[in-house]
Amino acid sequence: MSQTLKAVRGTRDLLPPETALWNRIEATARDVFARYNFGEIRTPVFEETSLFARGVGEETDIVSKEMYTWSDGERFEENKMIAEWIDKNRSTAPHNVQPGRINEQGTQSFLAKLNALGVQRQVYRGIQQGLNLTGVTELVCFRPVLSTEAVAALVKARELARSDSSSQLQQARIELRLVIPTSAPLNQWVDRNDVIIEQFEGSFFASSQTLTLRPENTAGVVRAYIEHGLGESGQLQKLYYIGPQFRRERPQKGRYRQFSQIGAEVIGPPSAGSESPLRDAEILEMLATLLDELGISGWTLELNSVGSSADRARYNEALRAALVPVVSQMCADCQRRAVTNPLRVLDCKVPADQPIIETLPVIADSLDEASRVHFAAVMAALDAADVPYTRNHRLVRGLDYYTRTTFEFTHGGLGAQNALLGGGRYDGLSEMLGGPRAPGIGFAMGEDRLVLTLLAALDQNAAALKAEAYIAPLGDSLNAAALVLARELRHHGLWIELGDGGFRLKKSFEAADKTARHIIILGEDELKSGILTVKNFSTGIQTKVPRTELAVFLSTPASE
Ligand code: HAM
Repeated sequence: MSQTLKAVRGTRDLLPPETALWNRIEATARDVFARYNFGEIRTPVFEETSLFARGVGEETDIVSKEMYTWSDGERFEENKMIAEWIDKNRSTAPHNVQPGRINEQGTQSFLAKLNALGVQRQVYRGIQQGLNLTGVTELVCFRPVLSTEAVAALVKARELARSDSSSQLQQARIELRLVIPTSAPLNQWVDRNDVIIEQFEGSFFASSQTLTLRPENTAGVVRAYIEHGLGESGQLQKLYYIGPQFRRERPQKGRYRQFSQIGAEVIGPPSAGSESPLRDAEILEMLATLLDELGISGWTLELNSVGSSADRARYNEALRAALVPVVSQMCADCQRRAVTNPLRVLDCKVPADQPIIETLPVIADSLDEASRVHFAAVMAALDAADVPYTRNHRLVRGLDYYTRTTFEFTHGGLGAQNALLGGGRYDGLSEMLGGPRAPGIGFAMGEDRLVLTLLAALDQNAAALKAEAYIAPLGDSLNAAALVLARELRHHGLWIELGDGGFRLKKSFEAADKTARHIIILGEDELKSGILTVKNFSTGIQTKVPRTELAVFLSTPASE
């Protein structure tokens, strides 16, 4: 028996009714982004690997361990092989090889036919100088591997040559040769079906491109910003995206190998104000608004500044020095990080290491005046807008491009993977990718984690993922009338499930209870009188409602 196929570990199917929640989150996000004047950008889900290596950083966990990377197939370099082959044959007396010509008079259609057969070149091997069509003519085909198709194409080409009067090859001796590459010149000549198979020594495969499924989208957005010269307008670019990202992490609740991010980036030339602390504050205020509108309460905004790259270099030195006397008491990972990337010691979650980490210097003390002033202005704007935050000196984030402001919104309900979203400034990323100076700031939220948070809140009120009403026609003769009623209510924007008159009432009630908040009974009497019986499943109350008031009744929370 064949094995049942399942979704790959760390990936999952999203099914209704949960997908309704995903759609609602995305609609709310789009609505908020539009109000803040952001436009949507859609970049490819895979990019050249070097984009992430350069952008996100070779030393980060994401790039060093978690990327889905593949080599995008090798390309056979046919022209290179032909050129080398001709070169070799030209110098081997007594052959006199001329590429690409059988004769010059009226053979275009014949050549086209040969091309269609995959015989890429026709080589005239003259006995005398010039074209001597009564001499030996070779039809040669260059292929990456030996295949029966290539052999058959050559045989067919010879038939064609002999039968086509315009080819002027009817009288010629025609030899067939298939040239394939080999790394070792063994068995150089083989005869198969009257076709000479020549193994030609050399490597004729171009090194392939290395591609990666995007593990995050900031690098892709900045790549697009550079590629399309978006900075040339002189305006700030405010771009948002919604889509899948891929990281080979150990799957657990809230952590998947394919997950979806809702993110946004503000980027532009400094003259457009891209470095202003107001941009940082506006993004954070927008996020507070978005989370509120999504119905997520109880979040914490953790804020830090990692300074300029010079500040960070200073801090790295301070950390390195402070770690020397204590690192031997720390976990193996920290001992390694203390050497390779001391900043990452701050991410350590091992309980025994925490008291030691508490004693390490904080990055705030290594910031220069400009970074300090910038961060103070961000905090002042947040205070003015009443956006609550806590400072977290250890928030250094796991991607290398960050400068100055960094932040995370966490939520207690999420357990170990408690970061709902993360982001920060990346003032040097564009230059790192070969672009113009273009400071930026952005964030990405884990949509899967938003859904988990909202689902936990919905547990008490699962009705939110159900249709407004289920229409139960009493008998097949009322099916058409039920369709008309469903159409009326749906035109009012209501989410309606249509039952079937073939069901017994008990079955309709069971189906309705699973899928909808109300059931509407539609019998002959209801149809004639225009007064419908509506039962609310959460209160158990049954109400008589005039058909004209039904839409309002169903969409008013008071009907709960
Ligand atoms: P990040 O912190 O790597 O930042 O990811 C942002 C959010 O994506 C996390 O807070 C989390 O909610 C979600 N996330 C990350 N990995 C997973 C996973 N394996 N499963 C489920 N959710 C996950 C970035 O990606 C940056 N590009 C953010 C940014 C934009 N910075 C500036 N602009």
